[in-house]
Amino acid sequence: MKKFVHDFIVISNKRLNSNHFVLELLSPEPLSTMEPGQFAEVLINGSQDVFLRRPFSIHNADRQKNTISLFIKIVGKGTHALSIVQKGEKLNLIYPLGKGFRLPAHEKILVVGGGCGIAPLLFLVHTLHDRGVKSDIILGARSAGDLLITQQFSRYGNMFLMTEDGSAGEKGLVTQHSMFSKGSFAYQTIFGCGPTPMLKALDKIATAFGIECQVSLENTMACGIGACLCCVVKTTTGNRCVCTEGPVFDTRELDGWYQPIAKCYR
Ligand SMILES: Cc1cc2nc3c(=O)[nH]c(=O)nc-3n(C[C@H](O)[C@H](O)[C@H](O)COP(=O)(O)OP(=O)(O)OC[C@H]3O[C@@H](n4cnc5c(N)ncnc54)[C@H](O)[C@@H]3O)c2cc1C
Ligand code: FES
Repeated sequence: MKKFVHDFIVISNKRLNSNHFVLELLSPEPLSTMEPGQFAEVLINGSQDVFLRRPFSIHNADRQKNTISLFIKIVGKGTHALSIVQKGEKLNLIYPLGKGFRLPAHEKILVVGGGCGIAPLLFLVHTLHDRGVKSDIILGARSAGDLLITQQFSRYGNMFLMTEDGSAGEKGLVTQHSMFSKGSFAYQTIFGCGPTPMLKALDKIATAFGIECQVSLENTMACGIGACLCCVVKTTTGNRCVCTEGPVFDTRELDGWYQPIAKCYR
């Protein structure tokens, strides 16, 4: 898939809570074809400290408005710099990068997101919805206040909520939802993104039910285009770059369970 380097214009920068925000960005050209799960490498404006671009999933796309959005958690220098960009500023993006979720022909799909892992999943359920598939979606967080953008998700699918403290939906981890212990579990594909222990648990569930599970990995990246090898993961077919051959993998391809092989200093 062809990649583009474009200066996007910031349309809005919406703070969701103390450490999450959503950027809506206008493309100067008609949006490229994109798969849900693909990502963009964002150049951090005017920061001497943040030399390397930072990778963010395409959170959603609107072809009529010619916009994409990014859902971002503030964790360090780069994400902090992005959290204060203003409407009208330009952000340089390389996109679309990597390989996204492979959409199955069937409709028995369960989408599971934990914490910031919901970032690539909105575009996924949006795309499925445009194809006539209303997915079932479980979103999990520590407590009700940490469950973000659930309304947007509910436009595209049937929602199930989980919180660790039980303040919304069922109580427990997202992978402990009661549907997983029912004999009537009828899904054929699970799509997931979230912390590593959550992805491991999803893999275990999928293995137990004998179904497919695709997860989006977030190994730390430097170049984002397959040149530095710092994002490499061990798979059943050898070491592969998460930036060019992922970030989405079928968990059956991952060797045992993944550990980043290289250390990324950036
Ligand atoms: C393919 C891909 C898609 C991503 N999509 C999103 C997204 O949609 N939204 C979002 O908020 N984040 C996403 N991330 C993670 C995001 O890229 C990092 O949080 C960001 O690069 C951190 O930059 P920083 O300069 O703020 O932090 P740094 O100053 O570089 O690091 C601050 C701290 O965060 C840790 N850290 C940095 N990168 C990661 C990472 N990838 N995973 C775990 N810890 C990390 C560092 O070890 C350090 O402790 C994605 C990562 C990848 C690889
Ligand atoms: S980030 Fe450089 S090879 Fe993947």
